[in-house]
Amino acid sequence: RARVAVLLSGTGSLCAALLAATERPGYPAEVVVVGSDRVADGLEHARRRGIPTFTCALADHADRSAWDRALADALARYEPDLVVSAGFMKLVGPAVLAAFGGRLVNTHPALLPAFPGAHAVRDALAAGVTVTGATVHLIDAGLDTGPVIAQREVPVRPGDDEATLHERIKDVERELLVETVAQLVTPDSTRKTSR
Ligand code: GAR
Repeated sequence: RARVAVLLSGTGSLCAALLAATERPGYPAEVVVVGSDRVADGLEHARRRGIPTFTCALADHADRSAWDRALADALARYEPDLVVSAGFMKLVGPAVLAAFGGRLVNTHPALLPAFPGAHAVRDALAAGVTVTGATVHLIDAGLDTGPVIAQREVPVRPGDDEATLHERIKDVERELLVETVAQLVTPDSTRKTSR
């Protein structure tokens, strides 16, 4: 099975969905480590399963480039085939990109290139769109700018606020992430853009 590392900053419901998927027979990936950039509840999903975790906080390093190198080293120790940013609220730097470029993916709660950044759900609501969604994309040096791998739409309902809309997006995002990770680590699979 392919070795997947997950990075998160918060509650980690996406990570939990991926961990649950890895427990199903035939799922082609296992999670070998879950890392965070801060004290994050989401690490608990891994700890409960006996999966290693680490925290690599910017504040514990001299500067951003030292932090980036430490993050690359912490990940490399687990020899991941794929690194998944699932609610990781920091931009990775050149050391992580050099080590894992091309096998580093992010999940984002909007239909990129629309609404990049940390407030995608709020920004979509403010723009008055009737459809938003979730995107899994390759990470490059920009903010949510890497090539899109898979997207799925989510309708905005009248009366939605940021919390209700984000929860509905995350329902879809969890499925999209589980399916896309499986496709990415399966060499012979026909790459389908799942909808
Ligand atoms: C997800 O919607 C993810 O796409 C988003 O944070 C949420 C994490 O949910 N990430 C970003 O907005 C990154 N810019 P979770 O903590 O429940 O897994």
